[in-house]
Amino acid sequence: MNKPIDPRLLQNAEAFADYATNTAARIDTGAEAKAHAQGARVGISRPHESAALHVSGEATYIDDIPELAGTLHCALGLSPVANGRLTATSLDLIRAMPGVVDVLTAADIPGSNDCGSIVHDDPILCDGEIRFLGQPVFAVVARTRDAARRAAARAKDALTIESAPPVLTPQQAHEKGQYVLPPMHLERATNGGAKAAIAAAPHRLKSTFDVGGQEQFYLEGQISYAIPKEGGAMLVHCSTQHPSEMQHLVAHALHLHANEVQVECRRMGGGFGGKESQSGLFACVAAIAAHKLKKPVKLRLDRDDDFMITGRRHCFWYDYEVGYDDEGRVLGAEITMVSRAGHSADLSGPVMTRAMCHFDNAYWLPDVSMHGYSGKTNTQSNTAFRGFGGPQGAIAIENILDSIARQLGKDPLDVRRVNFYGKGERNVTPYQQVVTDNVVHELVGQLEASSDYRARREAIEAFNAGSPVLKRGIALAPLKFGISFNVKHFNQAGALVHVYTDGSILVNHGGTEMGQGLNTKVAQVVAHELGVKFECVRATATDTSKVANTSATAASTGADLNGKAAQDAARQIRERLAACAAARHGGKAEDVRFANDKVEVNGRTLDFSTIVAEAYMDRVQLWSDGFYATPGLSWDRDTMTGRPFYYYAYGAAVSEVVVDTLTGEWKLLRADILHDAGRSLNPAVDIGQVEGAFIQGMGWLTTEELVWHPKSGMLTTHAPSTYKIPTANDCPPVFNVQLFEGDNFEDSIHRSKAVGEPPLLLPFSVFYAIRDAVSAAGEHRADPPLRAPATSEAILNAITAVRSAAG
Ligand code: MTE
Ligand code: MOS
Repeated sequence: MNKPIDPRLLQNAEAFADYATNTAARIDTGAEAKAHAQGARVGISRPHESAALHVSGEATYIDDIPELAGTLHCALGLSPVANGRLTATSLDLIRAMPGVVDVLTAADIPGSNDCGSIVHDDPILCDGEIRFLGQPVFAVVARTRDAARRAAARAKDALTIESAPPVLTPQQAHEKGQYVLPPMHLERATNGGAKAAIAAAPHRLKSTFDVGGQEQFYLEGQISYAIPKEGGAMLVHCSTQHPSEMQHLVAHALHLHANEVQVECRRMGGGFGGKESQSGLFACVAAIAAHKLKKPVKLRLDRDDDFMITGRRHCFWYDYEVGYDDEGRVLGAEITMVSRAGHSADLSGPVMTRAMCHFDNAYWLPDVSMHGYSGKTNTQSNTAFRGFGGPQGAIAIENILDSIARQLGKDPLDVRRVNFYGKGERNVTPYQQVVTDNVVHELVGQLEASSDYRARREAIEAFNAGSPVLKRGIALAPLKFGISFNVKHFNQAGALVHVYTDGSILVNHGGTEMGQGLNTKVAQVVAHELGVKFECVRATATDTSKVANTSATAASTGADLNGKAAQDAARQIRERLAACAAARHGGKAEDVRFANDKVEVNGRTLDFSTIVAEAYMDRVQLWSDGFYATPGLSWDRDTMTGRPFYYYAYGAAVSEVVVDTLTGEWKLLRADILHDAGRSLNPAVDIGQVEGAFIQGMGWLTTEELVWHPKSGMLTTHAPSTYKIPTANDCPPVFNVQLFEGDNFEDSIHRSKAVGEPPLLLPFSVFYAIRDAVSAAGEHRADPPLRAPATSEAILNAITAVRSAAG
C-alpha cells in the first residue's frame, strides 16, 4: 500500500486517535493515575500498542509486506457443485489464459493432501470427492493477482462433475445419521435423572429452537505469502491465530520437517476464530506453489471467495424438554443439539464440547441429559468463532428460561435468578466441576439497580399499553463462561524476553495479535515486572522459529497464558539484575527495587539502563525464556467430566428495544453492561473487547443471516451486499459499559480474567428484549416462536404467530 494517504482519511485517523486517547483518558481514573505514578504498569488504561499505526494505515498486514522480485500470485478454482464426483478436468483451458504460469491440483502436493486440524478429513485440494459448492479444486498461479483470479473464475468450464443432491441443514444430516464425529452425551442425575425429573415435575415444556451461524468477517481476509528458502525450506507469512499449526500443516504437505518451515505473523486484521484452523488451506496452497515453482507465491482471497471457501460459526438446532416448578426452577432438562458442521470435522468436536459445557450457563441444573450431534453437510466446514460453541450452548437454556417465565407469567429475571448457581451448594456443573468463584448474584444485583431495570419494566408496560404499533421490550441476561482450552495440553505457553544493553526490551511470545490487545497486555506485564515505562518494551511478530510448539491464540486464553510466560521470563532477568546490582553496590538482592525506570539498590538510585549496562559488563545473561502451564486442569473425554476450566468469567447486560410491529424493524435504545474481567490488566482495552463483542454478538442474533440455496447448495449471502454485519449506527444511543470490581479468585496473571469471548453472550439481552416486545405484541398471551437471527422477517413471523395464538 504505497499510495499516498487521502488527507480526508488522515483527518479521520487523527480524530480516531484522539478518540482512542480520550477513551483512555476518560477511563484513566484517579486511582489508575496514582497506581501509574507509583510504578504500576498493569491495571492501567492505555491505548493499544499499535493504535497509532492502525489508524494512520501504517500497520503492516501480510499484504503490506514489500513483495520480493518474481513474486507470483495465486487464486483458487472452486467447485460450482455442492456434492458429487469430479470425473474429468480440462485445465489446459486455464493454463492457456493470459499471465498464467501454472495450474496445480492435488497431484502436485508432495506430502499429504490434508489440512484437517484434529481429524485428517480435510483435503487441501479436491481429491475427486466434491463436498461443497466453493470447494477448492485447483490453484492457478499467475504473474498478477488479477490474471490468477480471471483464470480461476473459469473453473466451471474446466470441471466435469457428476452431481448428487446436497445435504444442507443439520436436521437433514441428523435424519440421515450423517455426522463428522461420533455423537456426544453428557448426563448428570441428582434426583433420578432427566427423564424421571421431567416426568415428576409440576410443569413441562417441550419445544425446538433454531440459531443461525455467523461469518467472522475479519476485515483482512485470509492471506498467506510463501517464500522458498535455501535447501528446500519454506517461510510463510500467514494471517493466522495458530502459527505452529500452520507450520505443521505446511511441513506435512511439503514432506518437510517442522524445523524446515517457519511461519510468521505480526498481526491479523481480525481473526475471531476464523483463522484458528482455516488459515491452513491457504498457507498450504501458497507453500505448495512456492515449493514447486521455486518462487515466492502470495495467495490473498477475494471477500466472496473467502465466504465461499471458509467455514464460520456453527448454526445449531435444538430439541428440548424440561420440567420445572411453580417458581420456574428447572428440575430436569433433556436436550438434543445438532450443529451444521459442514463437510469435515475441523473444530466441530471441541465446539460441540464447549456448547454442552455451557448449556448450564449461570444455572444449576440438577438433572440433565444432553446429546450433541455434529451434522455432516455439503457446506463449508464450520469452525471457531468467538465463544467457540459456548454462546450456542448457553442460548438454549436462556430460551428455555424465557419460555418458562412466559408460561408462568413471571418476569424472566426472577426465573433466571431462582435458577442461579448457589454458593457452597447447588454449585456443581453437569460436567462435575465445582463452581467456586460465583459472583453472578452480586453482579446481577448491581446491574439490576444501576440499569433501573424494574422501573423501566413498568414504564415499558405503560408505553406498550398506549402504543398499538410500536412495542418495547427489555431483558437482562447473565453469563458465566469457562476459561481454558477443554483439551488440557493446549493450556501452555512460552515467551522470550530480551534486554538490550541500552536498556530497551523486546518481548516475543507464542500468542498472536488480532486487534484484541494481547501484545499491549503482555508488554505491560513485562514493563511492570522490570519497572520500566511501557514504551521501553516492544512486542514483535509471532514466529515459530522464536517460540516453538505454541497453542492457538484462542479460547480467550492469550493474556492468561502468554502474560504468565512473559512474566516468568522477565522475572528471571530481574532476579539476575538484582543479584548483579547487589554484588556491585552492596545490600541484599531481595531488597533491590525496580520502578519508574530506576533501580534502588543499597540506598542508591540508578537508571535501569545503567544497571543493565553494568550487568552486561559482568557477563550476566540479559535475556530469558519463560514458560507457563495452567494448573489443576483435567478432562475425561469419554464421560465428559472433570475440571476443564481454570475459572469462570461472569457478566450481565440489560437491553431495551423498540419493535415496529408493521415492518419488523427494531432499534436498540439502551444497553447497560457489567462485565467481570477480574482485576483488569488494561480497563480501556477490556471495555473495547466488551463493546466489540456485544455489538458483534448482536449482529449474530439479529441481522446476520446465512442463506444456502436449497437446491444448488450455493451460499447466496457471500458479500456485505447481502450479509449484514452491524455498523457504527447500530450502537445504542445509551451504552453504559462497566467492569465489575473484583479479583480473579485464582492466581491468574495479576488476578485478571480473560475477556476476549465471554462478552459475546451479553447480547442475548438484545434477542430476549426483542422477544419481550414480540410477546407484548400478542398481549403476552403466547410464547413467541422467535428464531435467531431475529431478522425483520423472523420478527414479523413471530408477531403473526403470537397474534393468531392470542386470538
Ligand atoms: N478482538 C479483536 N479486535 N479481533 C479479534 O479477532 N478475536 C476474539 C477475541 N477478541 C478477536 C478479538 C476471539 S475469537 C478470541 S478467542 C480472543 O480475542 C483471542 O485473544 P485473547 O485470547 O488474547 O483474548
Ligand atoms: Mo476464539 S473462537 O477461541 O479464536
